[in-house]
Amino acid sequence: MGKIFNANRISSMTTSIFATMSKLAFDYKATNLGQGFPDFDGPQWIMDAAYEAMKSGKNQYAPSSGILSLKKAITDYHKKYYDLDWSLDEVIVTAGATEALFSTIMAFIEPGDEVIIFEPFYDSYLADITLAGGTPIAVTLRKPDFSFDFDELTNAINDRTKMIIVNTPHNPTGKIFTKNELEYIASLAIKHDLLVLTDEVYEFLTFDNEAHIPMTSIDGMKKRTITISSTGKTFGMTGWKIGYAIANETLATAIQKVHQWTTFAVNTPAQHAMAYAFSKLDDYLPEFRKLYQEKRNLIYNELLKTKFIPHKPLGSYFIMVDIPSNIFADDTQAAMTLVKEYGVATIPPSVFYVKSDEGKTMLRLCFAKEDKTIIDGIRKMAKV
Ligand SMILES: Cc1ncc(COP(=O)(O)O)c(C=O)c1O
Repeated sequence: MGKIFNANRISSMTTSIFATMSKLAFDYKATNLGQGFPDFDGPQWIMDAAYEAMKSGKNQYAPSSGILSLKKAITDYHKKYYDLDWSLDEVIVTAGATEALFSTIMAFIEPGDEVIIFEPFYDSYLADITLAGGTPIAVTLRKPDFSFDFDELTNAINDRTKMIIVNTPHNPTGKIFTKNELEYIASLAIKHDLLVLTDEVYEFLTFDNEAHIPMTSIDGMKKRTITISSTGKTFGMTGWKIGYAIANETLATAIQKVHQWTTFAVNTPAQHAMAYAFSKLDDYLPEFRKLYQEKRNLIYNELLKTKFIPHKPLGSYFIMVDIPSNIFADDTQAAMTLVKEYGVATIPPSVFYVKSDEGKTMLRLCFAKEDKTIIDGIRKMAKV
């Protein structure tokens, strides 16, 4: 047998559902409520700051773990908004949250380790755990409020469990984990000496005055938690891919080891622009949150006029809807019919589940879209 064949570790990987649905959206000229990023630009003043950085010679490699002013801006806002103290050595700037997730999982998970994930999950968790040789163990967030059964979580933990991954505010359900839920997860993590990876990329996208609760704010969790976030979400520049991981120095050192051999360092002028953006966070946030609160309300109210029943999200820029079961057999059929016959692209969420069939009863829509895109897409769905 020749040697030109794929490594086994990628054998379960296929084209992501996002690429598949975006291609269909393009082919059928559909309104795209599937892809999970804004169809409008982030602020001009952040672009100007990036250009200024380029013009002032900030174009060579940044320090591997990130430029100091960005790390300082990140630790400053954690103090100001969450009363959490971090040092600069505890922050690693990465190529988006995606690389932070990869580097963290590679740093801690080895073959035989089990990792608890809540389903529906952001799909890179599954890929990263698989690449590391670990085993994902799912706990289901169940409708209508996407809460989980505490016993299901307790029973999922055994001697092989090494990590629990939490994502709050949550993609795709829009759930915000309650303090009680976070405390329960924390109590198990402490009891079984587990790591917790908390993906908080939507930390500033909360609605109806709901507060985001960082996992590290729960007693006893700071030393065992890796917090991941992304300026792509906070400042609406997903294409810049500036994310970060925050963890105590021992954990951060391990993540840094993977990071230095993965990307080494990330885009220098964009880091400078994001350091500046964080310095304006107080002025920026009210407007940003108002924009998304209005979009959340718009899509929810439009959906009420259709046969698709929305689950009101409290955070993130996604909304789950129940599909009318008398019309469609499952989520895949609904998503295919909608894109091909009604001209609107959505995401069938069953790909975000490995255990429960509940995903087959819903679709995920993204409302980080111009109002006219939202109205156009949902009105097409209303024709079903
Ligand atoms: C929950 C979640 N985590 C991580 C990411 C990746 O973030 P980034 O674009 O910064 O890599 C996303 C992007 O959609 C996400 O929804």
